[in-house]
Amino acid sequence: MKELVKRDLDKIWHPYTQMKDCEDMPPVPIVKAEGIKLYDNTGNFYYDTISSWWCNVHGHNHPYIKKAIKKQLDLFEHVLFAGFTHEPAIELAERLVKITPPGLDRVFFSDNGSTAVEVAMKMSVQYWRNNGKKDKTKIVALDKAYHGDTVGAMSVSAKGAYTEQFSSMLFDTMRVPTPYCYRCPAGKTKGECGTECLSMLESVLKQSSTEIAAVILEPVLMGAGGMIIYPAEYLKGAKSLTEKYDVHLIADEVATGFGRTGKMFACEHAGISPDIMCISKGITSGYLPLAATMVTQEIFDSFYGPVNEKKTFYHGHTYTANPVACAAANASIELFEKENTLKNVENIHSRLEEFLGTVSGLPFVGDTRSVGAVGAIELVKDKTTKEPFPVEERNGLKIYKQGLKHNILLRPLGDIIYFFLPLCVSNEELDDIFKKAQKSIIL
Ligand SMILES: Cc1ncc(COP(=O)(O)O)c(C=O)c1O
Repeated sequence: MKELVKRDLDKIWHPYTQMKDCEDMPPVPIVKAEGIKLYDNTGNFYYDTISSWWCNVHGHNHPYIKKAIKKQLDLFEHVLFAGFTHEPAIELAERLVKITPPGLDRVFFSDNGSTAVEVAMKMSVQYWRNNGKKDKTKIVALDKAYHGDTVGAMSVSAKGAYTEQFSSMLFDTMRVPTPYCYRCPAGKTKGECGTECLSMLESVLKQSSTEIAAVILEPVLMGAGGMIIYPAEYLKGAKSLTEKYDVHLIADEVATGFGRTGKMFACEHAGISPDIMCISKGITSGYLPLAATMVTQEIFDSFYGPVNEKKTFYHGHTYTANPVACAAANASIELFEKENTLKNVENIHSRLEEFLGTVSGLPFVGDTRSVGAVGAIELVKDKTTKEPFPVEERNGLKIYKQGLKHNILLRPLGDIIYFFLPLCVSNEELDDIFKKAQKSIIL
C-alpha cells in the first residue's frame, strides 16, 4: 500500500485535489472492486456510496457488462467515426432514441460530460446562425449550475471557486437565480412558493430573447452546485418559457440520466422534452468514458445541406463513439430491464428518506433533501439563520475522513454530505451503509 502511494505521489497530479492535502490524506489505492465495494490492497473495503463520481449504476465488475466489453474487444477496439461506422454505435443510438424523452431523434457521440455540454451549446448557436438569426448567441444558465470544466462549460457554470481563476477566458452568460428551495431566492417558504424564480427567468427571456440561443439547466437535481433539488414545476415552467420566447432548452442530464433520480431521465419528472440533451456518466454504468448530445430532427435538419452553404457541424473527437464503450453502454441499458433497476431506485429512495429523517435533527444539519438514489445533508453553523460554517473549518472533509475509517466513501461537496448510490445497492448494504454513516456524520 505504502509503496503504491509513494509512487503515485511521486508522479501523479489528481483532479479536484489540493495535492498538499495528500501529505496527511494520501489517495487510497484500489486493487479490486465488486458490486458496490472498493477494495484496497490491505483487504480493507469502502462502500462506493457516490458511485465513483456518479457514474456507476449496476455495480463494479458486473459479469454482463464485462462480457459485452470482452466480446467487442475480440472484434475491434476503435475506429474513426467520420466516414466509418459500427454496429455498437448504431445499436446504442437506436436505444437512446427509444429511451430518452420523445423528439430527441439524433445522437452526436463524444466522450465526457463537459464535451457533451460544449457540443450542445455550439449546436444551438450554429442552429440559429444556420436559420439566419446570427444575434442569438447568448446562453442563460442557473447561477449555481455546474456543467463541467472545459472553457465553454465553465462559462455557463456558477461563478465561484471552480471558475474564478479562469474568468478572463470565459464568455458572457446571462445568469438567473437557482430554484434552491432551502435558500429561496425569492425569500419564500415551502407552503407559500409560487415558483417566483420562474418569473426571474421570464424577465431575462422577455428582455433579451433576440440575443439568446438557449437556456441550459440540470433538470430537477443540480449536482456539483450542492445537490440542490428543485420542484418539477420549475422545469415544466422553464420548458414553456423557452417555447414562448423561441430559445432552445438544453437539459444537462450528465449526472441525472440513467435512473439516478428514479426516472430514466430527470426530464420525465416534468413530462418534458428538451430541444437538446447531454448525457454521459451512467451511460456505460461507469465502465468506459462515453457521452452523447441528443437533438431534435429539426435541429439536425438545419445543419443539412450542400457543403458550400457552410452548415456543417465542424466538431469531433478522436474517441467519438468508441465501440468498446458503446458495447458497455448497450449492455448497461439492457440491464435496466433485466434487473428491474428503476424499481430498486424506489426502494433505495424510501430507505434514504428514512435515514435522512434520523439525521435531520442533528444540531449542525440545516437541510436534508433527496430524489431517487440521491440524498444530501447540508451542514450549517446555525440552524435558525441557516448561516454556513466558515469554509476554513472544512467540516465536510472531517466527515469524509471519519467515513473512510468506517468503510464508507462520503466525499463531500464543501459542507454538503451526500449519497449518490449505485442503483444496484441491496437492502442489507443500505442498512450497513446507514449504520456506518450515522457513526461518521459527527462534528
Ligand atoms: C451536470 C453535469 N454536467 C457536466 C459534467 C461534466 O462531466 P465530465 O466530468 O464527464 O466532464 C458534470 C460532472 O460532474 C455534471 O455533473
